[in-house]
Amino acid sequence: MKEKKKVFPADFAWGAATSAYQIEGAWNEDGKSESNWDRWAHTPGKIKGGGTGDVAVDHYHRWKEDVGLMKQLQINAYRFSIAWSRIQPAGRGSLNPKGVSFYDKLIDSLLESGIEPFVTLCHYDIPQILEDRGGWVNREMTDWFSEYAGKIVHLFGSRVTKWMTINEPICIAKGHYAATVEPPGLGDPQAGADAAHHLMLAHAKAQRAIRACGQKYQVALVNCIFPSEPYTGPVKSDSDGFARMSGDINSAEGEEPVTPEDAAAAAYLQDGYTNRWWMEPPFTGRYPQDIWAHMEHHPDVIEGDMDIIKAKPDFLAINYYTRYLVRAVRSKGKLSWKGIPVKERGNSYSSMGWEVYPEGLYNTLLRLKKEYAGTPVYITENGFAFEDKISDNGTIEDDYRVDYLRRHIDICGKALAEGVNLKGYFVWSLLDNLEWETGWGQRFGIIYTDYKTLNRTVKKSGLWYRDFIASATSKKT
Ligand code: FCB
Repeated sequence: MKEKKKVFPADFAWGAATSAYQIEGAWNEDGKSESNWDRWAHTPGKIKGGGTGDVAVDHYHRWKEDVGLMKQLQINAYRFSIAWSRIQPAGRGSLNPKGVSFYDKLIDSLLESGIEPFVTLCHYDIPQILEDRGGWVNREMTDWFSEYAGKIVHLFGSRVTKWMTINEPICIAKGHYAATVEPPGLGDPQAGADAAHHLMLAHAKAQRAIRACGQKYQVALVNCIFPSEPYTGPVKSDSDGFARMSGDINSAEGEEPVTPEDAAAAAYLQDGYTNRWWMEPPFTGRYPQDIWAHMEHHPDVIEGDMDIIKAKPDFLAINYYTRYLVRAVRSKGKLSWKGIPVKERGNSYSSMGWEVYPEGLYNTLLRLKKEYAGTPVYITENGFAFEDKISDNGTIEDDYRVDYLRRHIDICGKALAEGVNLKGYFVWSLLDNLEWETGWGQRFGIIYTDYKTLNRTVKKSGLWYRDFIASATSKKT
């Protein structure tokens, strides 16, 4: 513990993260309109087990208790998202006073508790009325989103300085439009490519709108980084843990063997599609050229778009969970890739099927230091899902999550000591919640939620995090 006190600076953000659809509930209360995720969850068969965010974990009504729990855990930063459909039900035009009041009170209460709000403007959910007009495939969305961003910053900007525009645009472009797993589930790769470009443009326009509100704001796009590593060993196809990300389930059957050189090239490609495509353009003003050349479907980039996109964020907001082991495949003579779960390596896995691999966070942080020199970094999500059980005496002994958090936080300390400009760390998630299309089965929280009674119980990992923060921020040496 002594060592950590020296490593983490006093102003380090120790936080937890959530998102609106996953926790709020009250899906049609107080003037909120239907969102794309409401529509999806109400369509039979779209969410595993028929789960919905109608009540979610009722944060809309229990936010006071949740802020109290954060305070108890000694968290000094909270990342949450605003439900666009709650605060601006028509997606454009006037704001909903009751929606405004909800976030107003939440922000005040956080500040009174010494917790800094880090606000995400779009964490997957958008008003259905905008989805009906094509959602992110429609270029007009870039203006609707930046108008919304400007309005929200006008409202809360006297109390919130850290703003995140869009969470994981890759998951929106791929999962929502190119694939069929998330709303509207178009399964249309061209739509996915168009959405990908519009998301980058929307972020840049929103960043501009926010900066126009004042100089003090710090703005970022949230990206999930999956370090890519080549793999040439045997493949087991017993997990679909990457279905949301890649849309490819793995099978080795009928494919030609590949060389280690192919595998390395495929990993480079994978890194391009998964990481570089989303990270580089705000710095370079272009999409990675190797990926552009490899892509089959290209977005319509209009003259001037890339000049708008070339706008450095104030910080890098990085979600890290695991690495991506990449196997080369050939299709029509062209080298391509698949992400694979490799269980025979002996590492542990979360119930999502994601390998526990803290070294990937270390490599990522050092890479960011090298490639985006000096830009401050926040780990805006990091966490572990498991089917936690509550014991007879009411405790949740999630030692596997304690181990996961400890190892990843140790890596943060190591990276800081090596000069990475790391400013904060947010656990995903504050409390168990609806894990999108996979439903209620994936518990990521450091607080256990009983989905019947909606009672909250701090898990062993929450207590561990509290004690860790207390010692890391203690003035004593
Ligand atoms: C991230 C999402 C977050 C949650 C975690 C497990 O990709 O941003 O909402 O689903 O995965």
